Amino acid sequence: GRERDLAGRRVVISAGGTREALDPVRYIGNRSSGLQGYALARTAAARGAEVTLVAANVALPDPAGATVVRVESALDLRAAVFEAAENADAVVMAAAVADFRPTARSGSKIKKTSADPEPVHLTKNPDILAELCERRRNGGKPAPEVIAGFAAETDDVLANGRAKLARKGCDLLVVNQVGEGLAFGTPDNAAVVLVAGGEPVEIPRGPKEALADVVWDLIAPRLS
Ligand code: C5P
Repeated sequence: GRERDLAGRRVVISAGGTREALDPVRYIGNRSSGLQGYALARTAAARGAEVTLVAANVALPDPAGATVVRVESALDLRAAVFEAAENADAVVMAAAVADFRPTARSGSKIKKTSADPEPVHLTKNPDILAELCERRRNGGKPAPEVIAGFAAETDDVLANGRAKLARKGCDLLVVNQVGEGLAFGTPDNAAVVLVAGGEPVEIPRGPKEALADVVWDLIAPRLS
């Protein structure tokens, strides 16, 4: 059963959405609430895991029994996840990580001008999930036994999800069906979990806690 089936396991979960600073007061961000990542942390702790939750800009109370590391940007999140993953058995990347960051961050507040402002130049952020998987594949560290990601897809969920699972090189990819009032900021979610070398697992619409428990149900037997 689920009860304490993660006892003694160290898990790292990323949650929320990164903010990429333009200046001291402005950022490029996203609408991730952190609810799904926090549900993963709560359920893992309830099942006995030692949980490190890397939280990017989440306005939720710390889940009981988890060590919370608060971060802001994608680069902060990368550093925190890699450090925590060093002795982790599983890593679940539920955070919405910005794909790009402003190339330059102004040290002072950008002034309003009469003319149109300069365009914002963007630089690609590292893909933390893909990098984690690549290091493990190359025999490097960290090398958690299970690495899982999340993806939001609106159409061709299975085909796009399969391609993403292969591209990232992770073990599990939880593909959220976004739209129709689901996912971002809502208590409910619906998803299909794609499994490397296995059959997809459908999770019907329901609370994020229920989805989280199914994710751990898939991870637990993959831990030696
Ligand atoms: O490629 P896409 O952003 O759809 O992939 C989503 C998955 O990849 C999530 O698990 C997210 O946490 C992770 N990700 C990441 N680093 C990025 C972008 C996404 O780890 N720069």
